[in-house]
Order: sequence, then C-alpha cells, then structure tokens
Amino acid sequence: MDKLIIHGPSKLQGEVQVSRSKNAYLPIIAACLLSDRPVHLFNLPELRDIKTIIQLLQKMGAVISYEGLRTTIDCSKISSYEATYELVKTMRASILVLGPLLGRFKKGHVSLPGGCAIGARPIDIHLKNFEKMGAIINLDSGYVDAKTNGLKGCKLVLSFPSVGATENLMMGAVLAEGETIIENCALEPEIDDLAHFLNKMGAKISGIGTSIIKIIGVKNLKEVEYQAIGDRIEAATYLIAGLITKSLITIRGINPSFLDAVCVCLQEMGAKFKFGDDFIQILEVSHLRAIQVDTSPFPGFPTDVQAQLLTLATQVNGTSIITENIFENRFMHVPELNRLGAKIELKGNSAIVQGPTVLKSAPIMCTDLRASAALVLAALAAEGATEVFRIYHLERGYEKLEQKLRKLGAIIDRASGPAI
Ligand code: UD1
Repeated sequence: MDKLIIHGPSKLQGEVQVSRSKNAYLPIIAACLLSDRPVHLFNLPELRDIKTIIQLLQKMGAVISYEGLRTTIDCSKISSYEATYELVKTMRASILVLGPLLGRFKKGHVSLPGGCAIGARPIDIHLKNFEKMGAIINLDSGYVDAKTNGLKGCKLVLSFPSVGATENLMMGAVLAEGETIIENCALEPEIDDLAHFLNKMGAKISGIGTSIIKIIGVKNLKEVEYQAIGDRIEAATYLIAGLITKSLITIRGINPSFLDAVCVCLQEMGAKFKFGDDFIQILEVSHLRAIQVDTSPFPGFPTDVQAQLLTLATQVNGTSIITENIFENRFMHVPELNRLGAKIELKGNSAIVQGPTVLKSAPIMCTDLRASAALVLAALAAEGATEVFRIYHLERGYEKLEQKLRKLGAIIDRASGPAI
C-alpha cells in the first residue's frame, strides 16, 4: 500500500486548477440510468468513487466509451437492476441508483450502505419518500428490495435537507406520473447541477436553487452533453493549503459563490481574497486569528471542509471552537493531528483548538476522505518529513493531488509502505 512522504514546512506559489465536482458527477452518472439515449460527459475526474459508480452501471449492462475528455454512457440495454454489497460498501453514494432504477424500470435491488467511518448515515429519508411515491420497499438480507407499478408524483416534505435523498427523489420523479414537489430539499450547488443536467435531458424541474423543487414527470429523455461544476470542496482544500503554508496562491475553476460560507469564515480569521468569475486569489495570509464555526447544510459551512479548517486552526492565534452538526463521528483526524503536536480537545460534537502550535513530522494515518485532506494540509505545515498512510482514501476524492501540490511547489514523494 502506498504512502505519501511530505517534506515540510512547504511554501507554495502559482495557480491550481480544481477538477470537476465528484459529488456533482456521482448523481449525474446514476441519472444516466433514466435514459435509453447516450449521455456524453466531459472531464470526469479520475477518481476511485467515479470508477465505482461507472462499474456499478456497467454491471447493470451500461456501455461506457471514452474519447479524449468525453465519456459516453449508454444505458439502452440495462439487464440487471442490482447494486451489490461488494461495490456499495466501498461508496455510499451507490444508493443514488435506486431513484433512476425505480423511475425507469420500476424495480431495484440495492445493498444497504450500512455504517461508514464518519457515522451511521441511514437512508430512511430516501426510502420513506419513495414509499410515498408508490414504491413497495422490503429490507431483506442487507438489501433494499424496491418495486412499483409506476412512481406517482406527490408532495414530499423531507425531515432533513439530505443531499442524497433530494437527488435520489428528484431522479425518481423525472419519469413519474404527474407532479412531485419536494419541500425542505437540500440546497447544495451539486443539487442545482443535477437538476440542470436532468432538464437538459428533457426533464421538467423548476424551483432550482430553492428549498422547494417541483418536477413534472415526462415520458422520454434525449441524448445530451454535459460538464459538471467545479469541485468546491477541492477548491476549499487548496484555499486552506495556501493559508496554512502562508502562500499567496490562486485557485482556478471554481465559482466563488459556492464557497461563500468558507470564504466569510476565512476572512473573519483575517485572510483576504480577490474573487473572479472562476477563481479565488489569496491576497493576505499573515496574523490569522481563531474562529468559532458550526457546520450546517448549504449555504452554511460545509461538513466536508470541517477537518481542513480544524487543521488551519492549529496554526492561528487563539482558541477556535469548531462544531460538527452533520455527522456524528467526524473528528477522526483529531488524534492524528495531536500526534503531530496540535492541541485539540473534543467536547461532544465540538473541537476546541489551541493555536498556534508547532507541528512536527510523525507517521499519520488517513481514516476517511476529508480527514485525509486535513492530514495532508497538516503535513504541508509540519516541520520534517511526514509519512501519510492509507492514502487510498484521498484517491476517492482528490484528483492528481500529488501532481497539483508538486506543481505548487510542495515536496512530496510516494513510496510503498507497510500494509497498515
Ligand atoms: C453528501 C455528500 C457528502 C457530504 C454530505 C453533507 C455526496 C456524494 N456526498 O452525502 O460529501 O458530506 O452530503 O453535505 O454528495 N440522513 C438521515 N437519513 C437519510 C439521509 C441522511 O438521517 O435518509 C442524515 C445523515 O446520516 C447525515 C445527514 O443526514 O447525518 C446528512 O446526510 P446527507 O445530506 O444525506 O449526506 P450524503 O448525501 O450522504
């Protein structure tokens, strides 16, 4: 198993281009199951999660072809309606095939995702609302077995604005009979992107960008070309990489409005930025101060940037309090950061961070995707050669991380490490 060796403290310079959003492409790829016409997607990031969802579709009979930056997904000959545990266990977002399967084929057999490193992550909101639309759902031997005589539009009120449930139900409603209204839906930019993609295919979705989405069912969808939005979480990670290494770098390929909450928080800490249509340039990095922030659904501060912010908080003046409100077990990076010399104490769902502390290299282990990003950031700031193990977590979500950081000037080696 490979490990990264990061030689710090790093000084970065120049520009970094973020990839297209993994979290936008995962539901978009699942949505290809809705159509018997080909879908052409551009610039899919080369990531493990993207490979997993493509494999899932291939197992169902989808034909995938590649030409330059274009990936074509042809779901005209689907012959299996099953997502097996083998793949679902590696990526919870696999549950997103359920809506398209129910919508087009009226059945689906999808493994229950189960718990994951960052918490229990149930799918009750997905299932309860598919039942309201006319699905009959049985949980049997670890699988969701769902069938319907045809989903019917109705009013759905989500008990929590779940990103995955909003996407799954929206996809299910595209071919349903009549009108579906989803209230209290999630507002994340990836939801808007999915809706724009579906509308380009011929769906009738309105209320995009609001908490009430309306979908009028259609009978057919058409061939379509699409490119997803830039990855706001990757962009935020590089923004924090700039701040933690006190480097005036520019992050390109991102609509800054997707990062309002993150930028406001970083500005409160003392950072200064210049914003363009598709870039954020760091103008000021010195004398950053502590912050108090809570994660919440979009437009609030994203849980997917909590770990990275926490790492930055170890390097600024004062006591920061960072509260995690979305997932119950999302502080696994804390003991690893403390091993590097950070002073972080956990109290319930809050992390209290005393800064600044000098970070010094030590072997550290990745536990989940965003925690891994936080450890890489810490290693960039730490003195000495930090070995980062279990980097396969990073490969789920950060395209060409090493190359991008090297291009910015970081000194990173990859070596094979022990299987820990
Ligand atoms: C998506 C993102 C993930 C991000 C998360 C929150 C993708 C592929 N993943 O995950 O990176 O961290 O949004 O922004 O886009 N919940 C329930 N019942 C449900 C569904 C969710 O209780 O049926 C709970 C979850 O356990 C969690 C919270 O709601 O505590 C948020 O989950 P959700 O918004 O669904 O996140 P995901 O779609 O899994």
